[in-house]
Amino acid sequence: MFYDTASNAHGMAHDPFKAIVAPRPIGWIGTKGRDGSQNLSPYSFFNAVGDHPKMVMFSSSGRKDSLRNAEETGVFTTSFVSRSLLMQMSQSSAAVPYGTDEFALAGLTAMDGRVVDAPYVAEAVAVLECRVTMVTTLPDIEGAATDSHAVFGQVMGIHIDERVISNGRFDLALADPILRAGYMDYAGISPLIELARPRVSGRG
Ligand SMILES: Cc1cc2nc3c(=O)[nH]c(=O)nc-3n(C[C@H](O)[C@H](O)[C@H](O)COP(=O)(O)O)c2cc1C
Repeated sequence: MFYDTASNAHGMAHDPFKAIVAPRPIGWIGTKGRDGSQNLSPYSFFNAVGDHPKMVMFSSSGRKDSLRNAEETGVFTTSFVSRSLLMQMSQSSAAVPYGTDEFALAGLTAMDGRVVDAPYVAEAVAVLECRVTMVTTLPDIEGAATDSHAVFGQVMGIHIDERVISNGRFDLALADPILRAGYMDYAGISPLIELARPRVSGRG
């Protein structure tokens, strides 16, 4: 089958787009408002987008509280979602009024960042502390503003729980991430496949 996205006539009960671009990592975004309120919400429009310096991005569909806070304070954290934190992560996605502390709502411990003034999930096995470098409203092909707002951040500091380091590596099997699939689905990781990139002589 084929469908054009202008009509979006895929003929299925639910739009398959997010099931195709899947599974996606979940950035569990911790922020503070200018008023000092704490906020925690999951974002699967999230990824690493650079490594020198280390950069991540999350995108808000509509102007949500994490976007507002990141704009207000210029910082955010991202906490790693392990399988053991799936229910708490889901609870923290509830559409609650601005200022509601989703750390408390989900029964999680909020810790203040070491280098940024934003909270993170103490129970998470890895955390990135980030400073906002750019917030941009994504334009469509006509150049018109959409209601998707991407927040880019430079990673200033990284926490790793010693219990998920083995043989000198961040052990993803031990960290046991939960990833976002399409619809209401989540995925875990099955045994990792180790494969080196092909080497071409004269190129890095
Ligand atoms: C696993 C998961 C991933 C999500 N990813 C996104 C996302 O990428 N962008 C978005 O706008 N909302 C996403 N949501 C919905 C937000 O988490 C939800 O709207 C939340 O209430 C936003 O909170 P905030 O207003 O405190 O930022 C996701 C929800 C879940 C459960």
